Amino acid sequence: MNIDKIFENNKEWVNSKLELDKDYFKNLSEGQSPEVLYIGCSDSRVTAEELIGAQPGDIFVHRNIANMVPNTDLNVMSVIDYAVVHLGVKHVVVCGHYYCGGVKAAMASQDLGILNPWLRNIRDVYRTHQEELDAITDEEQRYRRLVELNVQQQCINVAKTAEVQRAYKKRGLKIHGWVFDIHSGHLIDLNVDFETILEGIMDIYRID
Ligand code: CO
Repeated sequence: MNIDKIFENNKEWVNSKLELDKDYFKNLSEGQSPEVLYIGCSDSRVTAEELIGAQPGDIFVHRNIANMVPNTDLNVMSVIDYAVVHLGVKHVVVCGHYYCGGVKAAMASQDLGILNPWLRNIRDVYRTHQEELDAITDEEQRYRRLVELNVQQQCINVAKTAEVQRAYKKRGLKIHGWVFDIHSGHLIDLNVDFETILEGIMDIYRID
């Protein structure tokens, strides 16, 4: 990506939109009512909108290293609150991806400075599922499985928030766990079941 070309690209994009609809930007400026909150990885290869065919206005997006939902992260917690309470999204998606550098780094024993506390959240997922993961002898398969388990754990973290529990009860908010397979380009649905998640955690985490 040549940084000098960005403004030129933008002009072309504006023109292409206006050619199809002269009121495109006027309509866009009137507000947003996306139905989906997408929480994904910052990885440059996993473009949220492009890989699911979304247009401006379709999805509310939050991206960070390894698509994490740490309970004390004010950033992701604010995004969830705003999307669920104020925008009234119908779906919350946590989308991970195979070959995730963040997950890979968490599997290695190395000091990465400021990244340590962030990656520790992934190490916690490993510890929670250590028996299953250690039983996988193929390292690549173990890495892929940790990516999937991490997505599941972040979905559980979404379900631990009061606003999500309330929206589930009041209007049937749904949570989805997906993995993007960079190798094939396909999205894989992990079929995360909100009912089951809630059954498993509500004894301890019920807020509302
Ligand atoms: Co990643």
